[in-house]
Amino acid sequence: MALNLDAIGKKIGPFTKDYTWKDAVLYALGVGAGFSDLDYCYEKDLKVIPSYGITTLYDFMPELAATSNVNLAGVLHGEQELIFHNPIPPEGTLTTEGTITHCYDKGSEKGALVVAEFETTHSNGDKLFTSIVTVFSRLDGGFGGENAPAKDVEFPEREPDFVVDGKPTEDQPLIYRLSGDVFQLHVDQDFAEMAGFEKPIMHGLCTHGYACRALIDSFVAGQPEKVRRLDCRFKRPLYPGMPIKTVIWQTDEGQALWKVINVETQEVVIDNGIFEYGDIPKTEIRFADRVAIVTGAGAGLGRIYALELAKRGAKIVVNDLGGARDGSGDGSKGPADEVVDEINALGGEAVANYDSVATVEGGEGIVKTALDAFGSVDILINNAGILRDKSFLKMEPQNWHVVLDVHLNGAYNVSRPAFAVMKEKGYGRILMTTSAAGLYGNFGQTNYTAAKMGLVGLMNTLKLEGEKYNIKVNTIAPVATSRLTEDILPPDFLDKLKPELVAPMALYLVSEQCPVSGNIYNVGMGCVNRAAILTGPGAVVGDSRQIPTPEQILAQWQKISSLKDAKEYHSVTDQIGDLLTAFSQPAAAAAESGHGFSAVSEVFDAMPEAFAADAAAGVDIIFQYIISGDGGGDWFSTIESGNCRVDAGTHEKPGCTLKMSDSDFLDLMNGKLPAMQAYTSGKLKIEGDIMKSQLIEKLFKFSF
Ligand code: NAI
Repeated sequence: MALNLDAIGKKIGPFTKDYTWKDAVLYALGVGAGFSDLDYCYEKDLKVIPSYGITTLYDFMPELAATSNVNLAGVLHGEQELIFHNPIPPEGTLTTEGTITHCYDKGSEKGALVVAEFETTHSNGDKLFTSIVTVFSRLDGGFGGENAPAKDVEFPEREPDFVVDGKPTEDQPLIYRLSGDVFQLHVDQDFAEMAGFEKPIMHGLCTHGYACRALIDSFVAGQPEKVRRLDCRFKRPLYPGMPIKTVIWQTDEGQALWKVINVETQEVVIDNGIFEYGDIPKTEIRFADRVAIVTGAGAGLGRIYALELAKRGAKIVVNDLGGARDGSGDGSKGPADEVVDEINALGGEAVANYDSVATVEGGEGIVKTALDAFGSVDILINNAGILRDKSFLKMEPQNWHVVLDVHLNGAYNVSRPAFAVMKEKGYGRILMTTSAAGLYGNFGQTNYTAAKMGLVGLMNTLKLEGEKYNIKVNTIAPVATSRLTEDILPPDFLDKLKPELVAPMALYLVSEQCPVSGNIYNVGMGCVNRAAILTGPGAVVGDSRQIPTPEQILAQWQKISSLKDAKEYHSVTDQIGDLLTAFSQPAAAAAESGHGFSAVSEVFDAMPEAFAADAAAGVDIIFQYIISGDGGGDWFSTIESGNCRVDAGTHEKPGCTLKMSDSDFLDLMNGKLPAMQAYTSGKLKIEGDIMKSQLIEKLFKFSF
């Protein structure tokens, strides 16, 4: 099985991880902190060791391995770089997502490198760190790809400036693993021996945590928030209890090189270390040289967006037809011109455009104005809007169409030519304007709410089409006083309903720093929250062979309707993927309704029939299964010349042995436990030919 080179550029995640101060302290204890650095261990004024960020890797790694198809038998964590943007708060939720960026070929003898980059954001909205992980895959080289650029660190020949001793205990991995890396190599004697070691070894990332503490103590003692970058290469394994030292050279102001040495053997355990420290510059959100189109910018929210963008350096196309609130009338140049004057008076740059967004020509004209005046388009805020409210039976076609033309078709008319420019330059930010009325419903606004939800649909697909070109598309549902809402929103709250309170979020969503695409936010009165379309886990109704009855729907109604454990889908492909899994694998629901495996022996009874002879061409192997627990036992399957036989008991010379508990095995076979997760969490232990074990999923297709 070769590396999947198509994995480059594939999105991995997002993964979320909730954590409390106890998790941060547990990590600190895992990397040797104690009373001597109580800041990391005491919830009062707790500081988080920056290398704690690495624990987000444990969700990311299995997905990285599955997406790139690395051969698990030869995988090592090769290099690790962390670039910090903000200190890690003591509690919250971390969201991590990224992509595989490179697959390098070091040759068939030496192996391959798979590089992935991901970013982690805190629930407070701060981007915390960027992590670049290099996986060294010993058995995947020789695919004819490019070799990795050399990345060797030259250490000064003089004596180091600091040498910091570390004393990991014999039991260190037992504490460290509780932070997420429960791989059995660090705890299980048999597994460690099978992998060629005398006994379980230290986690490389545990030693990495020791080094991070040593570097902080040497340069910015007591101020972990000043760590800006930590980069290194994992070189050799280390047994628990071995004393280590972190050897450090300062090379410049704010910069140092380091390595970790095993004091007993003098071997380098972690090499090529780079450390950068100092104040992390606060990022001001600027729009210098960015060209922004704001539609309907002659008044209300659009005017404020245009002014605020201009104050931060953007060049603005102020579009406004200048019509009446219901879209009637010939329009007027006044509103757009006045906003252009306001921007010029502030020292900004702006041009007016008076086209209607409601026509294709109007949309093209607006984008042309930007190209003629400023040569580009980076930002588009689809904001223009009108209202024609009537209860549904009084909603004549004219009122229906006019509202859809301005809001929904208007966004299409302007976004399409703008998207073409953005795609060409590989950068773009588009903001749609929906409404809480559209998201949740509002009496008398069928035209408006349909148009506003149509914009969400437009965003959902445009975000996918823009992904490759760094075009991010999001949606805002504002609340503010304006001509549209002056008779709807309560006058007592006027101060809280200023459009100025909406603008910061709009600006963030169209900034370079915006980390998301495809999201919806309610914004107003000083509150911002995310709205989303969620899908519950539902139920498998029927057995996929016979058409289910309405009575079966009734019987499952509670499950079908429940939003417990609901999730968001990035695209319909992901949703269909889940749907297919629900049927192709005996899902938990199937098991519960009597269609999954309820006993381990049933799996082995069904195995010969589930054997896919066509997938077994050229494969001769004996798989031994050792299933522990009351419902367990021993079985082996002999695959030879395209046939499969299953026997109870143990074989003298199996090619590959799989060990699991009875309940984990049933979860695996019933689709509740993914194979990769079972392996990396230590629930599935594999001995012998690990590569062949990866064939099992292809060789047996169970159906119910
Ligand atoms: P506004 O009436 O103050 O501003 C809308 C602007 O769009 C006006 O200046 C108008 O001349 C312009 N416009 C109308 N039709 C146009 C066309 N065909 N071509 C070009 N320009 C056109 O209203 P507001 O409140 O600032 O609304 C902005 C957006 O926010 C709208 O899409 C609205 O639906 C949305 N919204 C506003 C809420 C609020 O609380 N103000 C609530 C939810 C959504």
